[in-house]
Amino acid sequence: MEKYVIHGGRPLHGSVEISGAKNAAVAIIPAAIMVRGVCRLENLPEISDTDTLLHTLTYMGAKVNMINRSTVELDCTHVQMDTLPEDMWVRTRKIRASYYLLGAMLGRFGRARTTMPGGCNFGVRPIDQHIKGLTALGADIRLNGGFIIAEAKDGRLKGGTVYLDKVSVGATINIMIAAATAEGRTVIENVAREPHIVDLANFLNSMGADVRGAGTDVIKIRGVKQLHGGTYTLIPDQIEAGTYMTAVAAAGGAVKIANVIPKHLECISTKLREMNVEVEEGDDYVLVRRDGPLHAVNLKTKPYPGFPTDMQPQMTAVLCCAPGVSVVTEGVWNNGRFKYVGELKKMGAQIEVEDQSAFLQGVDHLTGAVVRSCDLRAGAAMVIAGLSAQGVTTVEDIVYIERGYQDVVGKFRALGADIRCVDEPEEPADPADISAG
Ligand code: EPZ
Repeated sequence: MEKYVIHGGRPLHGSVEISGAKNAAVAIIPAAIMVRGVCRLENLPEISDTDTLLHTLTYMGAKVNMINRSTVELDCTHVQMDTLPEDMWVRTRKIRASYYLLGAMLGRFGRARTTMPGGCNFGVRPIDQHIKGLTALGADIRLNGGFIIAEAKDGRLKGGTVYLDKVSVGATINIMIAAATAEGRTVIENVAREPHIVDLANFLNSMGADVRGAGTDVIKIRGVKQLHGGTYTLIPDQIEAGTYMTAVAAAGGAVKIANVIPKHLECISTKLREMNVEVEEGDDYVLVRRDGPLHAVNLKTKPYPGFPTDMQPQMTAVLCCAPGVSVVTEGVWNNGRFKYVGELKKMGAQIEVEDQSAFLQGVDHLTGAVVRSCDLRAGAAMVIAGLSAQGVTTVEDIVYIERGYQDVVGKFRALGADIRCVDEPEEPADPADISAG
C-alpha cells in the first residue's frame, strides 16, 4: 500500500505552481456531454478524479484526446446513454461529482441514469436539492437499486424557477448544466457562489449558453437549442493554493504560491494574517512567510465568500501548535468532517470536538506518528501536520489525497520538504485479532 513518509521540522522555501481547480474540472468535464463539437480544456488538474470522469466519457462514446498533461480535447458529438459497463459504474460511483452526469445527460438526451454519488465520507451527503431543482425543470426522478433514473416530460427539459433550501455547490452546478439547453428561462435562487460555479458558467457561455449571475445568489439561464465546441481554460485551484499556504504557516519558511487568483484566497489570507503569518498579494501569486510564533484564532466555515469548509482540516492542523485556545467551527457539513481529529491526537495534538466545533489547546510541537487519511482534505491536513512535526510521520490511505492534489510529493519536495512516497506490503492481519473476533 502506498504511503507518504515525512521527516518533519524543515521550513519550506521556494515557489510552487498551483494546478487547475479540481471542483471546476469535475463539473466542466461532465458538462462537455452537452456540447456537439470539440471542447478543448486547458489547465486541467492531473488527478484521479479527472481521470475517472474522462474514462467515463470515453465509455459513453466521447473522443478523448490528451494534448498534454493539462490539456484535453473532448468530442462528445456521438456520446450515448446506457453504454457504461458495470465495472465502470463501480469506479464512477466512487466520486461525488458523478452526479453531474445526471444534469448533463438530462440536458443532452432528455433522460438520464447515473449512480448515487460517492465521494469523501464525512457524514450524510443528501441530493434532495438536486432533485428539487431538476424536478422544477420538468424531470421525473426516481431512485432504483443505487441508481438515479430521470426522464424529462415530453423529452426535453423546460425552464423553471427554483429556490434552493440550502446553499449547495452540487445542486447549483447540476441545475445550471441541465438548464443550459432547457426550453425557456430558468431562475435559480439562493445558489452557491464558489469560484468553480463561476468557472462552469463561463465554460457553458463559451460554448454558446446564456448563463448570467454566477457568483451572485441568483443565476438566470436562457436555454439554447444546443452548445457548440470551443476552448476553455480552467481557473487555478483555490483549495490547493490554500493548502500550500497553510503548509508554510505550519512548517515555517517563505514560499511564492504562483498561478492563483488572490481574490479567491481572501478569506484564507485574512485568517492567516490574524495568526501572525505574512501574506503578500501579487497579480497572480501570493507570498507566504512565517518565522515567528503562531497566534490562536477562532474560525467558522461558511459557503463562499466565507472561510472554505475544504480548508477546515488543514487550518486545524496548523492551529494545533498555536499557543492558547483556538476554536474551529464547521458551518457547512455535519461534524463528521472532524473525523481526522483522532489522527492529530496520535501526534500529540490537544483537541476536543463538541457538536460542530473543535476546541484546540496549542502545544509546543507535534510528534511524528502513523496516521490515516480519513478523506481528501483530512489527508492534506495529515501531510501538513507531518511537515511541522518533530520526527517521522507516515500518512496512509493516500489514494484520497491523490484524488484532489496533483503531484503533492513533487511539489512539496521542491519546497525543501523531506517527503517521499513508499509502497509497503499491507500489514498481515494479526491472527490474535482474528481469533479475538
Ligand atoms: C462540493 O460538495 C465539493 N465537492 C466539496 O468539496 C465541498 O466541501 C462542498 O461543495 C461545499 O463547498 C465537489 O465540488 C466535487 P454541497 P457538494 O452540495 O456539492 C447540504 C473537496 O474536498 N446539501 O455544497 O456535495 C450538504 O449536506 C470536497 O473538494 C443538502 O442538504 O456540497 C451540506 O451540508 C469535499 N441537500 C451542504 O448542503 C443537497 O441536495 C453543502 O453541500 C445537497 C447538499
